[in-house]
Amino acid sequence: MPPPTGIFFNVNGKDVSEDNVDPELTLAYYLRNKLGLRGTKLGCEEGVCGSCTVVLGTWDDGENKAVYRAVNACLVPLFHVHRTFVITVEGVGSREKIHPIQDRMARGHALQCGFCSPGFVMSAYALLRNHPDPSIDQINAAIRANLCRCTGYRPILEALYSFSPEGGGCCGGNKNGGGCCKDKSSSSEDEGYDDKLLSFNDFPKYDPTQEIIFPPSLRTYADSQDQVILKGSRIEVTLPKNLTQFKESREGKHVISSGLITRLTISQNPECFSEQWISTKYVREFNEIKVETDSVLIGAAVSIQKLSDTLSHHQNENIGTAVSEFFRKFSSPQVANFATWSGSVVVSAKSSTIVSDVLLLLSILNAQITVLTQSGELVQVEIDEFLRRRLYETETILCASFSRSDNRKLFCLKLGETSEQDATVFNFGALIGNKSSRIFVGLGSQPKRLTRLETWIDSEEGFDFEDLYRESGMEKNNNSLMALTRLSDFLKSKTISQVSDPITFLQYYKPTTNESVGRPIANYSNERAITGEAIYVNDIQANNAVHLGFVLSSVPHAEILNVDSSEALKLEGVVGYFGIKDVPGNNTPGIQSANTFFPDDTAIFADKKVESVGQVIGVIAATNVVLARQAAKLVKVEYRELKPLIDLNEAIEAKSYLGKVQCYGKEEAIVNECLAKCDKVLEGEVTLGSQEHYYMETQSSLVIPGEGDELVVNCSTQGTCFTQLMVKEVMNLPAHKVIVKTKRLGGGFGGKVHNASWIACMCAVAARKLNRPVYGFLSRSDDLAITGKRHAIYAKYRVGIDAEGKAQAAHFETWLNGGWSKDHTENVTAVMSILVDDVYNLGSVRSVGYPVKTNSSSSTAFRGYGQPQSKLINEGVMRRIAREVNKDVEEIKKLNFAVEGDRRFLGDRIHSDAHTECWDYCTNWSDFEKRKRNVEEFNRSSDSVKRGIAMSSVRLGLPFPDTTAHGIASLLINLDGSIQLSIGGTEMGQGLNQKMIQVCSEALRRPIETITIIDNSTDKITNAPVTGGSQNSDTNGLAVLACCKKIMSRLQPIVEQNGGDWQKSILEAYGKHIPLQCTEYGVVNRSQFGVGDMETPYNTTGACAVEIEVDTVTGYNRLIRVDMVMDVGESLNPAIDIGQIEGSFMQGYGYVTCEKISYDEKTGHLEQNTAGKYRIPRARDVPKDFRVKLLGINKANGAEVYSSKGIGEPPLMMSCGAVHSAIMYCVDDWRKHNGIEEFVDTISPLSADKIRELCSKKRI
Ligand SMILES: Cc1cc2nc3c(=O)[nH]c(=O)nc-3n(C[C@H](O)[C@H](O)[C@H](O)COP(=O)(O)OP(=O)(O)OC[C@H]3O[C@@H](n4cnc5c(N)ncnc54)[C@H](O)[C@@H]3O)c2cc1C
Ligand code: FES
Ligand code: FES
Repeated sequence: MPPPTGIFFNVNGKDVSEDNVDPELTLAYYLRNKLGLRGTKLGCEEGVCGSCTVVLGTWDDGENKAVYRAVNACLVPLFHVHRTFVITVEGVGSREKIHPIQDRMARGHALQCGFCSPGFVMSAYALLRNHPDPSIDQINAAIRANLCRCTGYRPILEALYSFSPEGGGCCGGNKNGGGCCKDKSSSSEDEGYDDKLLSFNDFPKYDPTQEIIFPPSLRTYADSQDQVILKGSRIEVTLPKNLTQFKESREGKHVISSGLITRLTISQNPECFSEQWISTKYVREFNEIKVETDSVLIGAAVSIQKLSDTLSHHQNENIGTAVSEFFRKFSSPQVANFATWSGSVVVSAKSSTIVSDVLLLLSILNAQITVLTQSGELVQVEIDEFLRRRLYETETILCASFSRSDNRKLFCLKLGETSEQDATVFNFGALIGNKSSRIFVGLGSQPKRLTRLETWIDSEEGFDFEDLYRESGMEKNNNSLMALTRLSDFLKSKTISQVSDPITFLQYYKPTTNESVGRPIANYSNERAITGEAIYVNDIQANNAVHLGFVLSSVPHAEILNVDSSEALKLEGVVGYFGIKDVPGNNTPGIQSANTFFPDDTAIFADKKVESVGQVIGVIAATNVVLARQAAKLVKVEYRELKPLIDLNEAIEAKSYLGKVQCYGKEEAIVNECLAKCDKVLEGEVTLGSQEHYYMETQSSLVIPGEGDELVVNCSTQGTCFTQLMVKEVMNLPAHKVIVKTKRLGGGFGGKVHNASWIACMCAVAARKLNRPVYGFLSRSDDLAITGKRHAIYAKYRVGIDAEGKAQAAHFETWLNGGWSKDHTENVTAVMSILVDDVYNLGSVRSVGYPVKTNSSSSTAFRGYGQPQSKLINEGVMRRIAREVNKDVEEIKKLNFAVEGDRRFLGDRIHSDAHTECWDYCTNWSDFEKRKRNVEEFNRSSDSVKRGIAMSSVRLGLPFPDTTAHGIASLLINLDGSIQLSIGGTEMGQGLNQKMIQVCSEALRRPIETITIIDNSTDKITNAPVTGGSQNSDTNGLAVLACCKKIMSRLQPIVEQNGGDWQKSILEAYGKHIPLQCTEYGVVNRSQFGVGDMETPYNTTGACAVEIEVDTVTGYNRLIRVDMVMDVGESLNPAIDIGQIEGSFMQGYGYVTCEKISYDEKTGHLEQNTAGKYRIPRARDVPKDFRVKLLGINKANGAEVYSSKGIGEPPLMMSCGAVHSAIMYCVDDWRKHNGIEEFVDTISPLSADKIRELCSKKRI
């Protein structure tokens, strides 16, 4: 009889059995594509973002209960869920029966675009199932590897903290469980404000008895004792059920434990090969945990988390607590929950670069490793010997045992690139006591034992730090310094202090008496997203569809000599290769005259040459996405390489430009003359890095060919009409044949205007050729390689000041790295140069902007559109002036502010502006002066840990006076009285649809639940500008108001006649043939506000104060307190506006700290080319004390939509400014105290390595 080929498991209460599972198949792929459970989202497919988190339940026979753990479905091989209970977000709750986690997150405004939300729900769900009353620490630990790019995490934390008895949530003033936030808001300034968006006290309590039970079918399942063999096209895996089978079948096979990392690695290999694996997972002996009096034994197939839990419970407290703390820093709980300790040991031992925390720990604890030799014997060796004899190359690990009678004390340290919770780059540990210490340092490959240091410590000759260093024999660098500093503290106290800081959040807004507008109503689509019901482009199901794999340039600059796709086309399931030859129309659609945005020369497919690594040469279409991506890697491209210009400075030198140099302001001679008259002229340079959008949903399109030439384009685009224009041009069609639809985006931030359209164009080309629906869904690494980012810049300034530090004249030159094609670069250069004066009156100003061409990815629009760069330039200028005249930076900023009535350097009058009010308010509210003195006091007695505090502010004139300055809306009233609204703007997490529904509800006086926005589609709204630039509530809101006015002008008399009976009135109107639908434009009437055609009618303004702590040894930072005060006029929805402020804050924080973009100078490859290598802020980065206030002052002249002002971008400008300055405060303080006088020009990001570099000259 052939061996059985099936696995059995249960998904959300439904039994599933599968035969012949392909071993390369992931659980996520299966859930999404086979079971149609699309709530499990794919944001990275590398185990980094957490969007795909699901919960696995297994029965623990020992404890006689089910155990639940969160895992990354994108990594878990499907064949390893045999006899497992798989719970996805759909199984947790639905809109009809919403789970308390989902309910609190949805109503607690804990999501914006919603793409990350199911993942957060699942991480929290696993926690609650094991710990119904979790501590705040447990909550923080559970979601530490879930990324969110929109919310800034605060509302997520607050919603989840509400499950903790430690009282992390709002107590509503009852003071139950911990402190009360209201105690912090006793100031008279807060009177008249609501100080919480909501309290969780009134929410249904969490009741663990209501949870879906562990399926009895899994417990009663009579598992065959036969081993299972699964065969895929490249991999065959044997799943033995007992040790005898394992021994018999092992020969010639590659042993895997969880197979998580092995599967991930081979999935990136496109070649055809054949490999046999054998798994330890279902063999009892590999899963055993035996606790004896003197020892604890842990099987090789046990997960890293279980190893940690077992050791922490069954070792003495000195060791157990340290183990637990150490693994709480493991970068991903989802990975630790599934990946095995044995896999970790072997992967690291085989590699020269991978640092394993598990291997370090086993080395320190001198684990005894039992191996199953080739000849079938069991041999026990010490871990040192296991490594020395390289037994991992030939033998199978069965288990490890650890002594339980060890009473020494354990110290462990783990360092990552930006924090201790990142993937490990360095680790160090020591077991101290009994004159037999064991000390190891992990640097990749096998940990190195520091025997001399052990002897020295055991001799107890004292704790002199220099001696410690000498005896360690370690190279002097920041990592070793950190390790030995912490070890030295540990030696003195014999404990590691783990202080868990409480976190406080406050949000203030002025309550309203309106029915709809102004209320903090939860976004109507929150419940859909949080239950996994919300549909993003890649979730749409299309029959007979194919998927694209992208063939990318691997060189930065070359002529293409030949493209050979024959190898790829041989693969079964690959249906075609498409490139420039297949484009029926214009391959550079951005240059068409109908493109009113600005001319763009980006080619859809490379045409005879490539100008950047990552440029798309062609696409492979295949029947599934995994195959398409693998096949794309098999396409061979022959190049004749040309000299590339990768470095911005070299390109500047070579005068390599993408367009005209742009000059604004006074003539050069006039500015020079003014500068010559100044008391002093200060000069400086600014170097700012790029930033990746890192929207959670990567670029996605689905193009469905229709009848004739028609195309329906589902695209994750910020501009349906723009995408329509691009697709019709590429396809050589009239626009009316192309319908572009967008329901929602999983984040955009400017990155889904042009790039999204290019992907749609590629899909359209393939769809037409194949006459089949085509999906284009970028993997995270392709998205990173292909798409443009924020413009990196180099700038020079000269600023003339008087004796007090008041600027009299300024000359700016800025070079923006536009990458290989124009994209948005000329426009961003213009905006940056025009707004270079930021919030200041700098006297006579000249600003010159250079759009530079380099052979790197084509820079594009990004939240702020050049203004964050202007802000950071000016932060540097102000810091420079302050240093020169020996004054506080904030004093200098204030001295130089442009105020109401002033004119900006290009002549615009400043009006309807609350900049001064925001600044003054924030200064008082944040108690800035007093806290600054405290910071000074702290720094006097702290050598390496420094604190910094800084304020920054913003002014953004809205709505913009250009072709984007109108909105379009369409209103349909159905005979049942329900209202369907359509707008030209796209919903991408900014809450635009919700705001528009509230506007419509208020204007029509109809209940909010009677109004809906289904999607954004070019067959309903045409010629709408792209969505972006903070003004969409204004433009779309004006259009909605115009529609409501038009409709009510027809309906009002009938409604009045019917005593307000809406339903009756609609029927009557219908009977009288009165049109119940209309489409209207919304345009700001600038003359009405006394502003010129090119001026903006109002300003959104704000100020913020940031206090930060920087450890100058590691370069890590921690936000201590942030106060943000914004004037948004009368907010349309305070919860949405506060969400935008907090989300922007964290994005701005990331821009100037952890988010680093660099290209290899020789190869032109992006160095942060995987999800794991590019670091965006995580929940742990949220300020310990985060306060936001919507200042309720009435300066909203010109804000026409219920006196509200736009908000999306402004907070980012001030947050990046304040965070940067606060960190520079720390750096400057450190340098001053270390006798370094040299001024540090502005450089960003201030990543951990940059901080260490700036604070290192005298230390080592
Ligand atoms: C997103 C992410 C974050 C991570 N963060 C961290 C971190 O913070 N710290 C850290 O230390 N590590 C980290 N890792 C690494 C992780 O710990 C390892 O990749 C993982 O433990 C490998 O185990 P596995 O079960 O997947 O191994 P498998 O894929 O099963 O096997 C890996 C290798 O081990 C061998 N092997 C497996 N079992 C045995 C056995 N019984 N006998 C002999 N050889 C065997 C296999 O042959 C294979 O070569 C991270 C990994 C990811 C993906
Ligand atoms: S998609 Fe699985 S962790 Fe990102
Ligand atoms: S809401 Fe978290 S990524 Fe958008």
